[in-house]
Amino acid sequence: MAGLGVNIDHVATIRQARRTVEPDPVWAAAEAVLGGADCITFHLRKDRRHINDRDARLLRETVRCKLNMEMSLDEEIVQIALDLRPDQATLVPENRQEITTEGGLDVVAHSVRMGEVVRRLHGAGIVVSAFIDPQEEQIRTSSELRCEAIEIHTGTYANARAEAVEPALASIRDGLGLALEVGLVVHAGHGLTYQNVHPVAAMAGFTEFNIGHSIISRAVFTGLRQATADMKHLLERALR
Ligand code: PXP
Repeated sequence: MAGLGVNIDHVATIRQARRTVEPDPVWAAAEAVLGGADCITFHLRKDRRHINDRDARLLRETVRCKLNMEMSLDEEIVQIALDLRPDQATLVPENRQEITTEGGLDVVAHSVRMGEVVRRLHGAGIVVSAFIDPQEEQIRTSSELRCEAIEIHTGTYANARAEAVEPALASIRDGLGLALEVGLVVHAGHGLTYQNVHPVAAMAGFTEFNIGHSIISRAVFTGLRQATADMKHLLERALR
């Protein structure tokens, strides 16, 4: 069964709405782990709009399951990752104006910088995953650049309506198949919810799902431990 990575950025987003100290994303990580999270995911953005350097440091000190840092190719952030040594770095695009990550990283266009960053992260013992759209060129290039894993961007599927849903799922399925064929570990994430996760979770071959907004939204009403357990349950049942 694929593991569940809980993205806790939105807990920090609430804190930053008041520029205060609560709610603490470090507490959130502990609650998610108690609910069954296999991985804690955070994104240290250049603009520090939610997770900040203190959070990243304390998460590294306290999280005992897999710690996954989403990060851009920006040099300041790369330096922080090299010092912090998360278990895994997921390379993502970052655009200052966006509300959230809008699509996969174009690893073909950024292959020279990518190759350099992957080498340096590997030198620090960090496993590298590339967050990409499920396109053949992106998958093959991620493998050529020696990423151990890719995370398939599921946002297009999550936003699809009516007749656009099936092609979006087919594209994820094809991407998963090709990535496994070339020896990549395959994760998926973005826009997955309690309502739409099933068809993706039912595809055999994924190793990790990274889910944030929907779990934190449910947690407002149920608590994060329960919200994490509810999502784990859906992932477990999908492959039966
Ligand atoms: N995976 C990646 C690479 C992301 O950038 C994000 C959003 O930070 C997620 C997964 C989680 O997306 P969502 O909050 O829509 O579940």
